[in-house]
Amino acid sequence: MTQKLLYVKANPKADSDSHTSTLANVFVQEYQKSNPDCEIITLDLYKEGIQPLDADTLTKMFGGEKNKAYDYAQQFASADRYVIAAPMWNLSIPSILKVYIDYISYVGVSFKYTESGPIGLLSDKPRKALHVSSRGGMYSEGPAKAYDLDDQYIRTILGFFGITQVESLFLEQTGILQGDALKAAIDQSHQTARTMAANF
Ligand SMILES: Cc1cc2nc3c(=O)[nH]c(=O)nc-3n(C[C@H](O)[C@H](O)[C@H](O)COP(=O)(O)O)c2cc1C
Repeated sequence: MTQKLLYVKANPKADSDSHTSTLANVFVQEYQKSNPDCEIITLDLYKEGIQPLDADTLTKMFGGEKNKAYDYAQQFASADRYVIAAPMWNLSIPSILKVYIDYISYVGVSFKYTESGPIGLLSDKPRKALHVSSRGGMYSEGPAKAYDLDDQYIRTILGFFGITQVESLFLEQTGILQGDALKAAIDQSHQTARTMAANF
């Protein structure tokens, strides 16, 4: 069966103005080259106009009625590969991505309750995810590592769904590096993206 890659983008900026989207695009294009039969579905959360869960959707979610959260959750569950591209905002993910996660965290689709607690339902096939994030500072190592909350959260929620193969791709210090040093960091991150894509 054709593999499906779901590319989730959470950035209001145009791709050309966004370090995160530019980096994620390099990865996805390289992945497509290595996997020409793969179907790539791009989900731009700002273009989708995703809004926080409202009372009507919540009622439907827990009342067994069809609703948009269910559709997003089903789409998520149908994929084999995931690229989640979001800049670090205030030590975390942009709120629109959290809203999307509130949609796809769907009982009976991405997880279920059992007598011994909740279990993920997305461990049924060998799924793999990549978190792409650009940050103004340095969090993947050094004194601010404990503040790397966006990556920790993405890994934790995917693990909760049963997706345990999660990789990370960062472009860091965009607010610190300048000129040639910034360009070198960007080039290096794009090279890393190509290498990771070939083995994803
Ligand atoms: C609303 C907002 C919040 C941000 N919060 C942080 C932060 O907590 N830590 C950090 O290092 N950079 C922060 N930044 C800087 C961005 O992470 C950084 O500029 C990143 O390279 C932006 O990626 P982009 O070009 O894909 O939007 C923030 C930027 C914005 C717009």
